[in-house]
Amino acid sequence: MSKKLTRVKAKKRPVANMRGGKAGVRPVIRGGRRLFERESVDVLLSSLGQLEESFRELPAVQTRIGKKSDFTRVMREVAARMNDNYPYFHPLYAGQMLKPPHPIARTAYMLSMWINPNNHALDGGRASSRMEKEAVAEIARMFGWAKHLGHLTGGGTMANMEALWVAGQLSPGKKIVASEQAHYTHSRISAVLGLEFESVPCDNRGRMDPRSLERLLDPGEVGTVVATVGTTAVGALDPLPELLRLRERYNFRLHVDSAYGGYYVLADNLSADAREVFDSISQADSIVVDPHKHGLQPYACGCVIFKDPSVARFYRHDSPYTYFTSEELHLGEISLECSRAGASAVGLWATQKLLPLTKGGEFAASLGKCRSAALDFHARLEADGRFMTPFRPELDIVVWAPKAASVKRASELSRAIFDEAARNNLHLALAELPASFLDIESAGMEKDADTITCLRSVLMKPEHNEWIGRIWKILDKATQSVVSGRNFSNKQ
Ligand SMILES: Cc1ncc(COP(=O)(O)O)c(C=O)c1O
Repeated sequence: MSKKLTRVKAKKRPVANMRGGKAGVRPVIRGGRRLFERESVDVLLSSLGQLEESFRELPAVQTRIGKKSDFTRVMREVAARMNDNYPYFHPLYAGQMLKPPHPIARTAYMLSMWINPNNHALDGGRASSRMEKEAVAEIARMFGWAKHLGHLTGGGTMANMEALWVAGQLSPGKKIVASEQAHYTHSRISAVLGLEFESVPCDNRGRMDPRSLERLLDPGEVGTVVATVGTTAVGALDPLPELLRLRERYNFRLHVDSAYGGYYVLADNLSADAREVFDSISQADSIVVDPHKHGLQPYACGCVIFKDPSVARFYRHDSPYTYFTSEELHLGEISLECSRAGASAVGLWATQKLLPLTKGGEFAASLGKCRSAALDFHARLEADGRFMTPFRPELDIVVWAPKAASVKRASELSRAIFDEAARNNLHLALAELPASFLDIESAGMEKDADTITCLRSVLMKPEHNEWIGRIWKILDKATQSVVSGRNFSNKQ
């Protein structure tokens, strides 16, 4: 990454400075705007006062921070250490699947830290458990489910693990299948659960191929099909309507992994094919969606929901030391994890209060902006003779590669452009993809490798929509400089 962003000056209080100016104690203000908002800190303090006041019947007790100078010194060190990061919060970070939490999520999460609830049992987190049930019910309604069983998890992997664990309980000994482009954890989760796993080939747009799936289904050994709605690499959507038709004939369980893509069910600017996929999700047996991806939450916040609430029976267990203060459902009775951060539920609940999960609402519009950013970026790449793109983005992930004499050379150029862009504060990602995703032949390239290193950008911040012009300018110059062998200095 750029030295401008990583250098930390000794003994000074470092501040991330996108311009690479002198690091100092004052916050960076650019064009009258700071990099980090602070208004929420005022609201946090006033809400903290209100929370404290609500416990006024308790005798006073003072928690001290110790010697303030020591506390401050360590926090300065923390701030200095945190500078050694890509600027995930900034629109010029357009690489991996990282999205900053909404200020309300951060603030509500932090406020709840003064209580530190544990959502395993109502005894450990009464208010936050109720908030979790309400927030998860809203997620289920977003997918069209009035009834459901579900809860938050540490992330998408744990959420998928629960879905596949339930699937395994329902059809023991039967296979789990997912596409070649499904998240890598599905095969590992299956191994952990002791279930056989098989990959289903994809078409040249990264979607599960239904004919290949049918060949696997025929012998009757498949218990569960995992459909990915928004693959991690390219944001492809497995063809749910066709998978549902196959389910009628072969009677398997259908799990939708929409850890990344699920919230797009609310967007109003999807392609007709994508809309059909999202409109079919409600027919799945279980769904995973990650509030810590597109749901504006801090890590760690995943979510799994089941259509049939009776799967709760598989979770039944006794815990003589936790479930005694209420007959109401304790979340630990329907989840594999024991202790879980109640704060995650508080952050999610607050976010959904401010930005309800409704079509036509502000949250839905912000997703629309992400897709618009991806379409704009894709159109620029398509119109530029130096690049090739495999397909229009279905969601907000764009992949492309530079044209070159051969596939191997294009991969080298991708890596060089990635580095040169990063030196100029534009942070992209790389993805190793099947060369068949691209029209290598029409580009007159020698096919000397089966996979190609592509550049990849996850444009998952709504601000990306306004920043595409600047992102493009840096990419353009980085490409010129790589091709010409000259460095450029970014004067944005
Ligand atoms: C489609 C999909 N499923 C599952 C996961 C795993 O989620 P997590 O990293 O939250 O465990 C990811 C992560 O990117 C993903 O994109």
